[in-house]
Amino acid sequence: MNTKRMPFIVFEGLDGSGLSTQSFELKGWLEKKGYEVYLTKEPTDGLIGSLVRGVLRKELKVDAKTLALLFAADRMLHINNTILNLLDEGVIVISDRYRLSSYAFQSLEVDIDWLKKINEKSITPDLTFIIDTPPLICMRRIQKQRFHIELYEEIDKLEKIRERYHELAKEESNAFLIDGNRPIESVSAEIFKNVKELEILEGLE
Ligand code: TMP
Ligand code: MG
Repeated sequence: MNTKRMPFIVFEGLDGSGLSTQSFELKGWLEKKGYEVYLTKEPTDGLIGSLVRGVLRKELKVDAKTLALLFAADRMLHINNTILNLLDEGVIVISDRYRLSSYAFQSLEVDIDWLKKINEKSITPDLTFIIDTPPLICMRRIQKQRFHIELYEEIDKLEKIRERYHELAKEESNAFLIDGNRPIESVSAEIFKNVKELEILEGLE
């Protein structure tokens, strides 16, 4: 078994930007190379994540700061109960969303410095891919898949969140802004190229 901690890779972006597709593509590609990979997501399917989903579906009503704390608590539990153990066991962990989602989405209503503070104990991913896709294209994709519209799916909000992601791409270490307005294979190819450069996966072809 590999004794070095394996990489933690995160996908970020607007809903409909293709981040779930790209997470899945990367998992398949790494598995073909012989790695053990665990694909996970935030909000999680756990207790706190389920509460969060209830809020996003407007079944539960909580204020914006409480929601931010719930996302942060779900994340801390995710890190301590799942992510770190797997990385130490030699498994590559890919997460569909992580702390940049909190900074990009919750900062519409909550001070970003406070958001960073309540997330300051979260580990920094080895790679974060921000899939950058125009909101109109994201909206079209979402409407094909779902009947209900969740909290963050109005177009002007999406424009603002996209701008935040552009800023965050410059601030967050190991983060790459990836043009998502291309065929799936082109987006994947750029992602694979960056993953190949991770030192711990040295020799990956
Ligand atoms: P998804 O499970 O379909 O990706 O939806 C999760 C939604 O939650 C998505 O609109 C982004 C949002 N979100 C936040 O606002 N803050 C967060 O910290 C996370 C992880 C997700
Ligand atoms: Mg999604």
